[in-house]
Amino acid sequence: MSEILNFAALIEKAMNKVLVIGALGQLGSELTLALRELHGKENVIASDLKQPEGKIAEGPFELLNAMDRQRLYEIAEKHNITQVYHLAAILSAKGESDPKLAWQLNMESLIHVLDLAKDKKLDKVYWPSSIAVFGPSTPRVDTPQNTVMDPNTVYGISKLAGERWCEYYHQKYGVDVRSLRYPGLIGYKAKPGGGTTDYAVDIFYKALEEGSYECFLSEDTYLPMMYMDDAVKATIDLMETDGDKIKVRSSYNVSAISFSPVEIANQIKSQMPDFEITYNPDFRQKIADSWPDSIDDSQARSDWGWKPSFDLKAMTEDILQGLPELLKK
Ligand code: NAD
Ligand code: SER
Repeated sequence: MSEILNFAALIEKAMNKVLVIGALGQLGSELTLALRELHGKENVIASDLKQPEGKIAEGPFELLNAMDRQRLYEIAEKHNITQVYHLAAILSAKGESDPKLAWQLNMESLIHVLDLAKDKKLDKVYWPSSIAVFGPSTPRVDTPQNTVMDPNTVYGISKLAGERWCEYYHQKYGVDVRSLRYPGLIGYKAKPGGGTTDYAVDIFYKALEEGSYECFLSEDTYLPMMYMDDAVKATIDLMETDGDKIKVRSSYNVSAISFSPVEIANQIKSQMPDFEITYNPDFRQKIADSWPDSIDDSQARSDWGWKPSFDLKAMTEDILQGLPELLKK
């Protein structure tokens, strides 16, 4: 009998127990479900500031303020957590309305997670960075992995500092932390939380609900973007790759599509000929103008085989097929 119990304990130990922090946001609400497919529903604990609804509520959940270090440690202990995906953050546009709060959340919570990984010897940590680490002096086209970085939003400054902390904890304490510099993420299953690239999600809601959209960026503003399915795949691929293949411990450039508002509008028009777009740039234009047009992700491709699946056309078709169903609910 005791042999059976020991065997069960060994199996339990061998299993990944994953904590997702900020699981109810635009990325977390899709990534958490994908992680539950991979590791088993009971092995992926979602957490956020608010109570979950819908599919995420069907699995384990904990209320957690990512700045509450003690509660983070308690939850990790309670569930025998072996991996953390730390997604909670205040994004670029929202961060500018309260820069100190954005810095506090984005930095303090990351340090808590890295300390947890060090103290409790977690197997792996995932923390996303962003194209916001780049700035006005960065080369705009095919921005290299290693280049000038002079971010001018508090969000970008916090992501750049976070990248340095990740590399530091890896080099100094051996923490297996992995990261991607996401471009603008476009998904339709959850609304975005205050980024500069959010227009490329809003445009689909407004196209279907009102037939027109007023864009807060100018028509020719190119930005690197990625469909959510590709972002989830990139994240899981990176986390499931053997550690010795991960050569970048700050954060990997990853890219998929680059387009401007007029190009996505034209793609929507090809399926909804009556759709109309107007332009009324606001403070977010300056943020967008400080970011790259396109990203060189050759290192991610060669180190762990990254390759996106969705181009602008495929993404638009997928959203215009799936979103109407969601809007009926
Ligand atoms: P989001 O704003 O949609 O979601 C963030 C989630 O974190 C929300 O559910 C929110 O309730 C939660 N949260 C906020 N404060 C919290 C706190 N103190 N404690 C716990 N939870 C808290 O953001 P997202 O778009 O899902 O982004 C997820 C991560 O990916 C972030 O780190 C972001 O910087 C990064 N990222 C996103 C994009 C993008 O285009 N969405 C691009 C680059 C990087
Ligand atoms: N999409 C994000 C934003 O606009 C970039 O990290 O803030």
